[in-house]
This record gives sequence, C-alpha cells and structure tokens, in this order.
Amino acid sequence: MTDALVVRDLTIRFGGLVAVDSISFAVAPGETFGVIGPNGAGKTTLLNAISGLLRLHAGTVEVEGRPVHGKRPDQLARLGVGRSFQAAEVFNDFVVTDYLSLGRLAQQRASVLAAALRFPSVRRADRADTRAARDLLARFDLEAIAGERLKELPYGLRKLVDLLRAWFGRPRQLLLDEPTSGTAVADRQLLRQILDEVRADGVSIVVVDHDVQFVSDRCDRLLVMNFGTELATGDPAEVLDRADVRAAYVGLEAG
Ligand SMILES: Nc1ncnc2c1ncn2[C@@H]1O[C@H](COP(=O)(O)OP(=O)(O)O)[C@@H](O)[C@H]1O
Ligand SMILES: [Mg+2]
Repeated sequence: MTDALVVRDLTIRFGGLVAVDSISFAVAPGETFGVIGPNGAGKTTLLNAISGLLRLHAGTVEVEGRPVHGKRPDQLARLGVGRSFQAAEVFNDFVVTDYLSLGRLAQQRASVLAAALRFPSVRRADRADTRAARDLLARFDLEAIAGERLKELPYGLRKLVDLLRAWFGRPRQLLLDEPTSGTAVADRQLLRQILDEVRADGVSIVVVDHDVQFVSDRCDRLLVMNFGTELATGDPAEVLDRADVRAAYVGLEAG
C-alpha cells in the first residue's frame, strides 16, 4: 500500500540554526503519527515545512506517492492535506458555520481564502455547505454555537472549531500542531471525540503536541525530536521507555 505521507531527509535552517535536521518518516493510510520533543525541538517547523509554509533546504515530501515539496499550502489542501492553525485573528468576525465552510471552499478554489478576507459577501457560505456544517457541529453537540462569531467563543472551543474546519475540507492527511494547548478538560474530551471520528474516517494524522500522555495514548507511532534531529521513532510505549528520550525531557513523568 502506498504510504499516505513520506518525509525524507527534510532539513530546514534559519540562518546558522538547523531547526530540522534530516528528518525522515512515513505515515501509513489511516495511521495516527505523533511528533513530540522539548520546546524548540523543531516540531512546528517540521509541520510548517510539510504543509508548504516553508521552503525546504533539503529533502522531499510525498503525499500518496506524489512529490509535493515546493507546493503552496492551498495546492496541498487540494491534494488532500489539511491542517489546523492556532486561532487566527483575521477570522474572528466569521460565524462558525461560515468558517467551517471555508475549509471546504479553500479546498476547491485557491483564491477563496483571500477573497473571503476582502469581500464580506464571500463570507456567506452556500446553503448546502451551511447545512453540512450544522450537521457536523450536531455530531458533537455543538449546534448551539453554529451562529456564533469566532471571537465570542472561548479559546479552547475556537481551536476545536478550527479542527472541524480542517476536517470539513475532507482531507486525507491532517496535520495538527498542539491541539491540546490552551484547552480545558471539557475541550480535551471533545478533542478526543473529534479525533476518534477523524481517525475512523480513515484520515492519516500527524499530530505535534507537548502533552506526551495525550500523544502517546492516541498515536500508533511516535517520532521524538531533539534539537532538530530524530532521537527515536516507534511504538509509543517503547520509545518513551528509552533513557535518551527521558533524558531529553525535563518533567517527563515516569510511567
Ligand atoms: N522563523 C524563525 N526564524 C528563526 N528561528 C526560528 C523560526 N522559527 C523557529 N525558529 C527556531 O527553530 C527552532 C525550532 O523551533 P520550533 O519548530 O518552533 O520548535 P517546537 O515547535 O518544537 O517548539 C527553535 O530554536 C526556534 O527558535
Ligand atoms: Mg511548536
């Protein structure tokens, strides 16, 4: 079976700093692949590079056997690669259902995202998308927020809505950066629920998070990064049991 995502020898430098140093891994279809590592390890940079936000200094990225390095984020979206963002302020005035629909529109037309920001009229999603967006919210008992503006929602909920926006775009690969950060306990429960459904949908997930417990619970395999390099890759329990992995973490709890 063709891998969903293959990263080979990916390297990103910022001046003299090698933020990502020749990282390689492959994600199988439907697999949830976690990336952990201390602050500054290069996790976000790796995700940004895969999703086309950064130019690679070396290496390749393939999605379902097709080279995608050098492609823009909107091109990647149309190839099935979705990602969540930290709640972006420019979308704060969006109503939740319109914001979800943006996930689907952006996948269809590259210009929509830009247009949506410039022309308020574009913000009105079409009715079918709005209905589907409401249905998606209802699956998680979130109908009540369908008509709310993003800025009216607590931060954690806004992040969950952004995850739903990414999923609404029908990705085959989904890249998530720190989904648990800033989320309350109740949001965590909802986050698990949403990710369960995304996974059951057969979507391959790459998830970066600082919550080692959360990531190891959810992931089929883990990549541990440290100073841009690969420290270990493999079964979460085995990887977390390694002395060098433990040493890389200050505050990684035993067990
Ligand atoms: N745009 C940038 N310019 C310069 N250095 C950066 C930039 N983004 C990240 N870095 C540096 O690259 C390293 C990796 O950062 P990052 O990928 O954000 O780590 P993580 O997400 O694992 O905490 C850090 O040393 C960080 O300071
Ligand atoms: Mg980060």
